[in-house]
Amino acid sequence: MIIAIGSDHAGADLKRELAALLESRGVALIDAGPDGSSSSVDYPDYGGKVSLMVSGGKADRGVLICGTGIGMSIVANKFPGIRAALCSEPLSARLSRQHNDSNILVLGGRMIGPVMAREVLEVWLDTAFEGGRHAGRLMKITNIEENIEKKTGNNS
Ligand code: RB5
Repeated sequence: MIIAIGSDHAGADLKRELAALLESRGVALIDAGPDGSSSSVDYPDYGGKVSLMVSGGKADRGVLICGTGIGMSIVANKFPGIRAALCSEPLSARLSRQHNDSNILVLGGRMIGPVMAREVLEVWLDTAFEGGRHAGRLMKITNIEENIEKKTGNNS
């Protein structure tokens, strides 16, 4: 599985920890940056990079971290085919996979401790989409996405 990871300065320390965990699990990791937490950067830049990779098929899934996780969630869910889930505990992470087939996990680096973040990530990685009635609901999301694109003329 190819996973793209990115953050802003507020999520960079947690990103480093989670990147190490992903690599230890044998995941093919694309680190979209930033390299450290010393300078302030804008979350849409890095959230956009990762979301584009997942949306375009260059990565299977993504992990995004900013201070609250809110900015990254807003950015990621603008991209076609992205179902980004902001999770702060394992149950939400599990259900976001089982019910929503979430393809980007978002974490708030200033909201969650590293131990909980690792647990959330592990559960998210290890849980499969259940399909069934949930697949039809995801189809409805895709339909909304496609109709909005038609209405706005934004199909890039
Ligand atoms: C950065 O200060 C902060 O605004 C950002 O990390 C994030 O929390 C935005 O949603």
